[in-house]
Amino acid sequence: MTLPPAADRAATGVPAQPVQRLRSRHLLGVADLTPAEVLLILDTAEAMREVGTRTIKKVPALRGKTVVNLFFEPSTRTRTSFEIAEKRLSADTLSVAASSSSVAKGETLVDTARNIEAMAPDMIVLRHQSSGACQMLAGVCSSRIINAGDGMHEHPTQALLDVLTIREHKPALASLKVAIVGDLLHSRVLRSNVALLGMLGADVWVCGPTTMIPPGVSRFGVTATSSVDAAVEGADVVMLLRIQLERMRGHFFPSRREYFRLFGMSAERLARAKPDVIIMHPGPLNRGVEIASDVADGPYSVILEQVSNGVAVRMAVLYLLAGLEEGGA
Ligand code: CP
Repeated sequence: MTLPPAADRAATGVPAQPVQRLRSRHLLGVADLTPAEVLLILDTAEAMREVGTRTIKKVPALRGKTVVNLFFEPSTRTRTSFEIAEKRLSADTLSVAASSSSVAKGETLVDTARNIEAMAPDMIVLRHQSSGACQMLAGVCSSRIINAGDGMHEHPTQALLDVLTIREHKPALASLKVAIVGDLLHSRVLRSNVALLGMLGADVWVCGPTTMIPPGVSRFGVTATSSVDAAVEGADVVMLLRIQLERMRGHFFPSRREYFRLFGMSAERLARAKPDVIIMHPGPLNRGVEIASDVADGPYSVILEQVSNGVAVRMAVLYLLAGLEEGGA
């Protein structure tokens, strides 16, 4: 497998010197990455995408490596795409769901991880309901840890696949207006995207009910508003975020119907965006709450492209982290 020429770096607004490897042993958050490392992952993901078009969708890059997917929260896209990515790279892989493991009997995260480590995996992909769980595991495990979503903290591979998708449609990331609309307060996707899009120079607007705008979010260089019209006006990218009822303690808006009326993305509301706007959503969708079905399934939607790119990005991350046997931090 050969990597394509480096992407048009000037167009991204990132004055990054190309790098060939990641410095960290783990991927815990976007904050672990430099702009040059982000470009390395995106360029590697573009090369990995080609593997998925082959008759035999497999390369030997991770042969002999063992990857454990440890999921303490439900997942469709992230877990499936990590598994497919691992198999396409020829890793030995297995998935452990909390509900069918001894976690259900009260075993802690650290004890679970230590017992899995006793079987000598090379990498652990962790999804956990607690913010900081991946950081904690990285402190007690010798395996490389990949964050597949920790509480309300980060979901770095989601943001990377989002940026890969945006870059395919709009290579000049630095000149883009990106409107992120929805449940900002509970969203790890928001936090990772704000960090990553900010790093790449995009003009990021975040929008939701005032009750769901994280205090101090403007410190991260974004424009925060409760006016969807203002956020969507002239946007190149509109990213909807799921209303995360499972994380809510209390009432943040009167009803789902009211939420859709005020913040839901309808075709009418979307008309304020640029004519070539793309619509994104990390999934799963609450149709008729944060997004209308005709928008989710319409011509501007790249939601399923995001899912496809998830495999390529996760292959890239696994591949690059596995290449650190000598000298990784
Ligand atoms: N986007 C995302 O994380 O989806 P899943 O919860 O289905 O993995």
